[in-house]
Amino acid sequence: MNRKIWIFLCLIGLAGAVYWRLVATGRLADQVVITYYATAKDAPLSSKQYEDMVEVYHGCFEEARETNLRNYLKSKSQHESVLGNMNVDKRVEQIARDIRLESFQTFKERANIYIGMLQESVVGFYICNDDHALEDNGVMISTLCVDAQLRKKGLGSKLIQSAISNCRKEGRPLSLIVDSYRSNLISMYEHFGFVLREPEHPFPDDFDHFDKVYMRYEPKASVVPDSL
Ligand SMILES: CC(C)(COP(=O)(O)OP(=O)(O)OC[C@H]1O[C@@H](n2cnc3c(N)ncnc32)[C@H](O)[C@@H]1OP(=O)(O)O)[C@@H](O)C(=O)NCCC(=O)NCCS
Repeated sequence: MNRKIWIFLCLIGLAGAVYWRLVATGRLADQVVITYYATAKDAPLSSKQYEDMVEVYHGCFEEARETNLRNYLKSKSQHESVLGNMNVDKRVEQIARDIRLESFQTFKERANIYIGMLQESVVGFYICNDDHALEDNGVMISTLCVDAQLRKKGLGSKLIQSAISNCRKEGRPLSLIVDSYRSNLISMYEHFGFVLREPEHPFPDDFDHFDKVYMRYEPKASVVPDSL
């Protein structure tokens, strides 16, 4: 009897998980409306919504940026003694603080941004950067971000597919860069048709490009996204 109840409860749990994976999360992504703005300041957002959007941005990139910055500075002090005895952690803290303080203003100037809204809330965004250092004629998807509270629900996939449709320009390579150690994320991009490649030009020597790999969109027929 106890065993039967246990099996019954497991089945209910399994059905719930399948429902959540297939139905509920799908609906959530379906409800997200993605809109283009020439710059982020053109988005009709209240100050509170704008502040929340910048917080979403920090939630996506602050930690990874600090890790990259720390590793970049360490690599410099080891190999070139550029920083001498300066305390890397303090430098990282200071630079991260400066970036955070400036980001409220600088985010407003972000160009070619697509913002995903779920009702009144910004839940994610991406940028089509059509003037970057790695390809003369390329467009790069950058700043792809989903609110940390809402990940693993299909929003990122929706944004990536939208970015592929909206950033791609006829005859111009579409690309992105990603931390070399984030193998799951690299696999996710491969799933959507991106392939690890060498960029046309070498990575600039700065922390934004440190320890990154370059991926170019070269889809097989099966992964070309449906129009959204
Ligand atoms: C990357 C990101 C946009 C994905 O958003 P998401 O809403 O969680 O994505 P999805 O729910 O559509 O997940 C898509 C698939 O990728 C996987 N995935 C999602 N986030 C992942 C991550 N950070 N690392 C590895 N795999 C990830 C999911 O498990 C899912 O796989 P599945 O279809 O087999 O279940 C989100 O994690 C994010 O904003 N991260 C911080 C910012 C960032 O790293 N941006 C990318 C810079 S290159």
